[in-house]
Amino acid sequence: MVKKNITNSVLISSDHAGYDLKQIIKNYLCKKKFKVLDYGPFDNSSVDYPDYAKKLAKKISSSNFGILICGTGIGMSIVANRYKKVRASLVFNAKTAKLAREHNNSNVLVLGSRVTNKINALKIVNIFFKTKFLKGRHSRRVKKFNNV
Ligand code: RB5
Repeated sequence: MVKKNITNSVLISSDHAGYDLKQIIKNYLCKKKFKVLDYGPFDNSSVDYPDYAKKLAKKISSSNFGILICGTGIGMSIVANRYKKVRASLVFNAKTAKLAREHNNSNVLVLGSRVTNKINALKIVNIFFKTKFLKGRHSRRVKKFNNV
């Protein structure tokens, strides 16, 4: 069960490869009473993943979270992490979902629809949104992300 103890505002976007999984995750989060803002696409016609990663990444702030889905998750994570406020993590299982939040204070979850099945994806979403950043030594490390 997803607990809304981090944020209740989630931005979501995908490319054509991630479209079906986006719909599934969106419905799941809406049922859990999250406010989900869909940045498209709105059908599964072929699109370019950088366009949709950018649409979402530019809207990320300290008061919301994001989910991006493409075929592998790789392209979306590369693009999203070019934005200063984004800490995007490409996650494949429950353990990395938990650690992405606890250690990296990740605010954008990236999934690969061709490498992560629906059940696993929902497990990942569930854990990502209920896990808190541990702060402490991890805050010092996260603060160093932008020093490049
Ligand atoms: C689209 O075919 C595919 O390249 C895209 O979804 C993603 O996997 C890119 O990283």
